[in-house]
Amino acid sequence: MQRNLLAIRHLEREQIEELIDLGQEMKKRVLEGKALPDMSGLVMGMLFFENSTRTRVSFEQAAHYLRMKSANFGQAGSSMSKGETLKDTILTLRYERLNGLVIRHRASGAPQLATKYFGGPVLNAGDGQHEHPTQALGDAVTILERKGQIKGLRIAIVGDVLHSRVARSNAWLLSKLGAKVNFVGPRTLMPSHSGMLPGDVFFELQEGIEDADVVMCLRLQKERMNGSLVSSIGEYAKMYQVNRETLKWANPDCLVMHPGPLNRGIELDDHAADGEHSVINSQVENGVFVRMAALYWCFGGGRKKNAEPAPETPKASKAKSKTKTARAKA
Ligand code: CP
Repeated sequence: MQRNLLAIRHLEREQIEELIDLGQEMKKRVLEGKALPDMSGLVMGMLFFENSTRTRVSFEQAAHYLRMKSANFGQAGSSMSKGETLKDTILTLRYERLNGLVIRHRASGAPQLATKYFGGPVLNAGDGQHEHPTQALGDAVTILERKGQIKGLRIAIVGDVLHSRVARSNAWLLSKLGAKVNFVGPRTLMPSHSGMLPGDVFFELQEGIEDADVVMCLRLQKERMNGSLVSSIGEYAKMYQVNRETLKWANPDCLVMHPGPLNRGIELDDHAADGEHSVINSQVENGVFVRMAALYWCFGGGRKKNAEPAPETPKASKAKSKTKTARAKA
């Protein structure tokens, strides 16, 4: 069965664990040079309507490892720049017989909308302030590699929670797997509905990261700020920067994470970004493997419980039997 990957919030714990397991298995196979699923019958549309380095390249690298082809697509250079709607764009790609879509869009819910008009799996590569599910999956693999488990960990998510899809996906994933989540930041960068998110809110950095096992820094998303939500960048850094001094409040063996891109000297200093606590490069590397897992899973690979169905295209049906073959080989 084919399925979409739109949000961690709507996944069962078992589905999250399955995706993490698959990501770890993909990593093992790539690093050991073992056989990988052969998905060579499939063409993925890589639709990036917002800038991206990590997510775009890692989805392309993931598709490459799985022998899929990708068709790259952005707003500039497409007919959307002539006024074509997202709906008509998605319908066009459907009838050009693409098999799946990876979508990044500034509007929350754009990938969900795409599922209405596209005939195959849709994967959310980050939508507005909503979710970034594959970022959270890669982060979970990174934490598991260092800490062995997620259950019982204290995880502080620090900074611009208001605008962060990474914060939301991580909070849902980590809390579903039994971690305690703290959101830390200024009132102006905390969502008004924070009570609906799975975690406690702290406005003081020291209180929020005290004894944390993981300190996850968020980027100040200046491009999504309509007004002046921080009085000055300098003042923000003074109060909320994760650095050599403030890290002393967290556990001595805490991990420092950041989804990137980093504003060095604002959210964190060089010691936090590059020092012994940092696992930022592992987050990037694991992003490739969980995106392989996500692509494989969305085309019917893995265990088949509680799947979120996506309609099939004739070409995709053919490809499904390919993933079956690949599983049999693996
Ligand atoms: N973390 C993340 O989504 O980075 P990019 O914007 O570079 O893809």
